[in-house]
Amino acid sequence: MFHEDKIILQTRHVVKKFPASKGRTLTACDDISLNVYKGMTLGIVGESGCGKSTFVRMLMQLESPTSGEIFYHGRDITRQSKKERHASRQHMQMVFQDPLASFNPKMKVVDILTEPLQNFGRLEKKDKEAKAAELLELVELPADFMYRYPHSMSGGQRQRIGIARALSIEPEILVCDEATSALDVSVQKTIIELLVRIQRKQQIGIAFICHDIALIRSFAHQIAVMYLGNIVEVIPGELVGSEAKHPYTQALLGALFSIHMEPSVRIKSIESEAPSPLNMPKGCPFCNRCPFCKERCKTEKPALQSVASGHMVACHFAASSDRRKAEKV
Ligand SMILES: Nc1ncnc2c1ncn2[C@@H]1O[C@H](COP(=O)(O)OP(=O)(O)OP(=O)(O)O)[C@@H](O)[C@H]1O
Ligand SMILES: [Mg+2]
Repeated sequence: MFHEDKIILQTRHVVKKFPASKGRTLTACDDISLNVYKGMTLGIVGESGCGKSTFVRMLMQLESPTSGEIFYHGRDITRQSKKERHASRQHMQMVFQDPLASFNPKMKVVDILTEPLQNFGRLEKKDKEAKAAELLELVELPADFMYRYPHSMSGGQRQRIGIARALSIEPEILVCDEATSALDVSVQKTIIELLVRIQRKQQIGIAFICHDIALIRSFAHQIAVMYLGNIVEVIPGELVGSEAKHPYTQALLGALFSIHMEPSVRIKSIESEAPSPLNMPKGCPFCNRCPFCKERCKTEKPALQSVASGHMVACHFAASSDRRKAEKV
């Protein structure tokens, strides 16, 4: 399923550190190696502050990595000139959580939709309306929406406009940073269904950030679970419910509520707080909250290791037999 020849974007050992007060350093992303594949969705899930947005901002070249490489079709984009960077932005587009904040309130939808194409000199003024109608059809909105202003649409409609605008320049990758988090559940579902339909038709690669593992597992081909700047598990989306091995992934799944739950089933909360990214633990980043933490976990950081095809885990006791052994130690 995840063939090398389908890789569009590849990050290798990407690290992002920010300077903080009193000469300290904040590690937002720590040694991240992930791939975005043609026609597939990479879901990135993790709690607030774990580094998801910082990571995708580096993919979009809005932020430079402190170290590591980002390859677009095998070419390192972290070392591009300004001109090359501008050109390569056409291949990657982003949809944000709050489209209202990213639209000019004085612009009509027709101008919002066609602005990127005009900026890249790919659309003449006289073709604006035809293009806007085509893009509105793509996101299943009526053509007369092109004469509306952003404030006169619902949140879901505005997000469709955000998606249409991002897709207008036919990117190979669409990066969605909490793009549906502000929408109510039913609208969220229709937006995801729309993205899936567009992906099937246009074979775009999607990187979808979200803190809701239940939502992401419903459509992501691959899920990367992020914790305190680290990727702790990468797993095919369809297997996350049955095969997740990292205690943090299991805790995220265990914290899910379902209306169909047996009354006797208790929702498990994750104990204590995540450490500060200003003071990264020496060993496993999850060790202070992990029910299986052993001495080794406190001193030795586990590497992300392959446990099955397309499945990697960063845990010393990832195999359940190993974890049983750990419980006896
Ligand atoms: N420009 C910056 N300067 C300093 N610290 C930053 C900067 N940008 C992000 N951070 C810090 O990096 C860490 C990761 O932030 P990031 O926004 O990537 O998290 P996130 O996973 O997207 O969180 P959320 O789910 O709340 O959006 C946080 O501790 C944040 O405070
Ligand atoms: Mg974020």
